Amino acid sequence: MPTEPARPGTVGGVTSTSTVRVRAAAKVNLGLAVGRVGADGYHPLATVFQAVSVHDDLTAAAAEPGSGVALEVSGRGAESVPLDARNLAVRAALLLAERTGVEPDVALSIRKAIPVAGGMAGGSADAAAALVACDSLWGTGLARPDLLDLAAELGADVPFAVAGNTAVGTGRGDQLSPVMCRGQYHWAFATRRAGLSTPQVYATFDALGGAGASPEPEVDPALIQALRAGDAEGLGAALHNDLQHAAIELAPELVETLALAEDNGALGAIVSGSGPTVAALARSSQHALAIAAALTAAGAADDVVCAVGPVPGARVVER
Ligand code: C5P
Repeated sequence: MPTEPARPGTVGGVTSTSTVRVRAAAKVNLGLAVGRVGADGYHPLATVFQAVSVHDDLTAAAAEPGSGVALEVSGRGAESVPLDARNLAVRAALLLAERTGVEPDVALSIRKAIPVAGGMAGGSADAAAALVACDSLWGTGLARPDLLDLAAELGADVPFAVAGNTAVGTGRGDQLSPVMCRGQYHWAFATRRAGLSTPQVYATFDALGGAGASPEPEVDPALIQALRAGDAEGLGAALHNDLQHAAIELAPELVETLALAEDNGALGAIVSGSGPTVAALARSSQHALAIAAALTAAGAADDVVCAVGPVPGARVVER
């Protein structure tokens, strides 16, 4: 992508540069334990997130006073992304402006690679990218904890999209603590054009019996142990997603995708988050490519993408 030289300017009385580009990563939930739905409509979670090298790029450019937040989206699945205030990136820019007293004038441009409605937190990645980009563009310089608080207001997965790497999420998934993680993990992701709605997957989870007799979700210690040891086989065996049943209920073809990944030697295969993306853990980057090729050949995915994790959260890559 061509680089734009930084030109100092003034937006809303705050010194800023004219263009900022931020890169934000997709996530996979290595473990997702879901408790009984609360009065607020949210489920308590105990999850382990890992950020993986499938990235959306967001550019924020200074705009004329009074022009508001403009958005354009290109890349994978762009046609199904809303461009108005339903878009989390637009909401992120408006929220940051409101809380910091800056005029919300910015032109946002997103280049998508993260599947839309795929269970990999693409919308949350874009929101995190918009927060980080506008904070830099407008010179608002929010402290990290304040940025994470704003992120949590936007959605349960947005704080992790800011933080990246590997972390445990509790509460709605927004209360983060980092996890010591050794080594790199190689993934093949099988994506579907038809996404799943996160609220619908949670509602199906409830309809199927929900958290049943164990309403207190807990992180599996074997999963944390495997990450600490850099033990990919141990991690593969410990991968778990309580939402998988619900996702399969809504998209039964996922059963075949999961089985094919395992038939091709995946150390473990799960539905990613609320689906329908299937995440297969491989032994190496070559093995990830082989799994991806087998899934493609069998027609078990609309698209496949290979990635490594962990990677950093939303960060400025160009100013
Ligand atoms: O926070 P976010 O907007 O990403 O959540 C989308 C939907 O997913 C919520 O409205 C809720 O239905 C469901 N959800 C949940 N429990 C969570 C996170 C999300 O029930 N911990």
